[in-house]
Amino acid sequence: MSTFSVKSIVRPNILALKPYRCARDDYSSGVLLDANENSFGPALNPTSDAAVSSEGLDINRYPDPHQHDLKNLIAKFRNISGPEHFFLGVGSDEVIDMIFRVFCVPGKDAVLITPPTYGMYSVCAQINDVEVQKATLTLDGQFQLNVEEIEKQVEAHPNIKVIFLCSPGNPTGSALSHESMKRVLSMPNYKGIVAVDEAYVDFIEAGKEGSTATWVKDYPNLIVMQTMSKSFGLAGVRLGVAITTPEIASYMNATKAPYNIASTTSRVAQEALQPQGLEILHKHIAVMLQERSRLLEAFKSISGLGRVLGTNDSNFVLVEVLDKEGKPSNDRAYNVYTDMAKRQGLVVRFRGSEVGCEGCLRITVGTPEENDVVIKLLTEQLNS
Ligand SMILES: Cc1ncc(COP(=O)(O)O)c(C=O)c1O
Repeated sequence: MSTFSVKSIVRPNILALKPYRCARDDYSSGVLLDANENSFGPALNPTSDAAVSSEGLDINRYPDPHQHDLKNLIAKFRNISGPEHFFLGVGSDEVIDMIFRVFCVPGKDAVLITPPTYGMYSVCAQINDVEVQKATLTLDGQFQLNVEEIEKQVEAHPNIKVIFLCSPGNPTGSALSHESMKRVLSMPNYKGIVAVDEAYVDFIEAGKEGSTATWVKDYPNLIVMQTMSKSFGLAGVRLGVAITTPEIASYMNATKAPYNIASTTSRVAQEALQPQGLEILHKHIAVMLQERSRLLEAFKSISGLGRVLGTNDSNFVLVEVLDKEGKPSNDRAYNVYTDMAKRQGLVVRFRGSEVGCEGCLRITVGTPEENDVVIKLLTEQLNS
């Protein structure tokens, strides 16, 4: 990637952007009458849960637009040198959208996705009027990258600006091999961004290939996306993370809404990154890994279930539902899915319409009690 130039692929309007500036960028203490906030305080009963839990946050004030303290904590946790490598978004869904807005010219540029994959890449593409090209993952049950096909697509469509890889994948549960991702990052004929979505990275077992986040010091075209919605159990606070080069991060930060990360979100996320929070994180991951193995073992004795697809590197499993002849069946999978949801109150996800996922249900690994329900209901539905 020696000839890679970020400037040459950033949208011209973003290159020319003068980011929004506020008086608080220069002066942040004193009598603050610069931002039309409400100096009288929040309209909250002072003894209410909301008031108590936001104590000390000055939630009548706009939040810190830069979030250095939070970025420093994430940097330490992810072994990244400093806050200049980060953009924080309202969930990784905002990170995905920001990548489109910084790099893809509507009506002109394209992105490449590797189905079966997370649906938001295509949704964001449509919202931003950006074409979607595809290079299907290997359909041998492993769901790995077909690098030759990616190369072909990139050559056929020089307007591809971003390649979205999802590792571990959703709905595949498969971590992509490091070797294959390095090949994509170093393709000589590709001058765009490679965005690696690592929403589920903390669920990869120790000893296997893990995060690519530290590669940002070696690859000038890499953006790694992570989230606090999954392993940290903080989907409700909406915090997504992009780890990338300082240059790319600076374009993303210049483009974002100035106050996108709420003070409450930042406080909760910072708390989760303290030693006690991290201890709980690791405890939860360990239980989830055990429960994932238990589910996989239990599935073996349910006759109407077929293969478990993918390499099980996530907090869910992707399993085939079979018909009476033993073939993966979308009809039966869909019936089981709706019956369990409507009559028995168990909601899983039907994924049979995704390429390579014929007859598949995607089932999140829950608590031991929740997983008991999964095993019981699937046995009732499918062991006949
Ligand atoms: C692969 C992947 N990326 C990103 C997201 C979105 O995460 P967030 O809650 O941070 O927006 C999800 C959510 O399911 C996901 O599966």
